[in-house]
Amino acid sequence: MIYFKFIAAISAVALAGTLANAQEEDDRVLLNLDTATQVMLLKDMRGLTESLDSLLAALSEGDFDQVTRLGQINLGFGHDKLMALVESGASDTQIQAMRAKMKANRQAREESGESAATMGGAMFGIPKGVGQKMPEDFRLMGQAMHAAAEDMVSVVEAIGDTPTVADYQAVLEGVQGITSNCVACHGAFRIR
Ligand code: HEC
Repeated sequence: MIYFKFIAAISAVALAGTLANAQEEDDRVLLNLDTATQVMLLKDMRGLTESLDSLLAALSEGDFDQVTRLGQINLGFGHDKLMALVESGASDTQIQAMRAKMKANRQAREESGESAATMGGAMFGIPKGVGQKMPEDFRLMGQAMHAAAEDMVSVVEAIGDTPTVADYQAVLEGVQGITSNCVACHGAFRIR
């Protein structure tokens, strides 16, 4: 008897949940992307998740060089381009040279007052042409995420030879600065 009451209670909770979901509106902005672009975006997103996981693993081992590398190459500005360079066997010097070049381009565009909407190349696996048609807010959120990754790297670079608890806390705060942008964008946009 108790068993049946239990099942009934579970079913009632499940039903209430379904009704609540059906009533809840998804008020996120729908991005109209063709299927191929959707696939690229989601692949890129899974890549970001993997990079975040690797970053946390490196941090838990106190491997700050690797945290820096992941922050710069996998999560920072131009991560698609930089990761492709790494895969093609580019040296660290070549990668840093590319980062410097992209940074200079970014600054030049900012100084010329160019808006985020017309800036830059591909983003999150979205090809350049499509990317430029994305809402400005989406592009800004993407850039804010990359900026947060670069900020986290600056925190890591300022750490001395013997990291303190406060240093770890500061890096974790930097990591959370990245994830808060993941959360913000997922709350604002959907693709289907
Ligand atoms: C500029 C916007 C934006 C940012 C920033 C962003 N995402 Fe996404 N992400 C999206 C959109 C849009 C989707 C599709 C969501 C949907 O349709 O429900 C998505 C989907 C995903 C998915 C689902 C992938 C799949 O295969 O279904 C994962 C995982 C994900 N994002 C992880 C992340 C992580 C981790 C970060 C931060 C490091 C991040 N995203 C930052 C926009 C963003």
